[in-house]
Amino acid sequence: MEIDIFTLFPQWFEWLRQQRHIANVLASGSHIECVDFRAHTPLSGGQVDDTPFGGGAGMVLRVDVMEAALRARYGVDPVELRERRRVIALAPGGRVLDEPLVGELAAEPALTLLCGRYEGFDERILEHFASDVISIGRYVLSGGEPAAMVICDAVMRKLPGALGDERSAAEESFSDALEGNPEYPHYTRPAEYRGWGVPEVLLSGHHERIAAWRLERSRERGAGGAAAPS
Ligand SMILES: C[S@@+](CC[C@H](N)C(=O)[O-])C[C@H]1O[C@@H](n2cnc3c(N)ncnc32)[C@H](O)[C@@H]1O
Repeated sequence: MEIDIFTLFPQWFEWLRQQRHIANVLASGSHIECVDFRAHTPLSGGQVDDTPFGGGAGMVLRVDVMEAALRARYGVDPVELRERRRVIALAPGGRVLDEPLVGELAAEPALTLLCGRYEGFDERILEHFASDVISIGRYVLSGGEPAAMVICDAVMRKLPGALGDERSAAEESFSDALEGNPEYPHYTRPAEYRGWGVPEVLLSGHHERIAAWRLERSRERGAGGAAAPS
């Protein structure tokens, strides 16, 4: 998979590239490349944003700057680019990222992530250049970079070779194996701590009963039973 990230802070992604499962996937031939808006802006002094028409606080990322950066990277009109690959603008009000959407993105050969800053994007970027507008939750971050990292992390851990043990992804929260429900509780040694024990079935060595118990706990959580603490 190829992920291109358009950002004002390309150096932030150095850390991401070094994280174990991301590094595993990159070593298998996937790529994360960053494009700095400032490196391609047609405006003087590295300008990328401007004041909003109609007034108000903050600055807005300009559509001509975005076009210049996309053209520099892909050599095509960005209006056509979104027919060829998913061009994802990150915005708090977008489609909220969830496991089905992560799975959808993980099946793509290439993704482009556009990180906003300040007040966000000129709306024409969303209307004419983006194929998707995605939010990582209903709250406001200072920039799209953490959201891009969340998408890279969630998507790349689904790719072959990302995890040390492929079974980790087969049976985890929201997976088909758990019928889309949150994962069941885990326990490890010591079996008794401050008088807090662990469910007897997990110590039984009886694989079928353990699997049935786990599925039941998972279903309970999916039905609204809270994971501790409640
Ligand atoms: C300070 S925010 C802009 C908020 C915008 N003025 C609003 O009220 O919706 C700057 C940038 O951070 C990113 N961002 C902030 N919150 C986000 C979220 N929950 N999901 C995805 N991106 C987010 C977007 O790229 C956005 O353009």
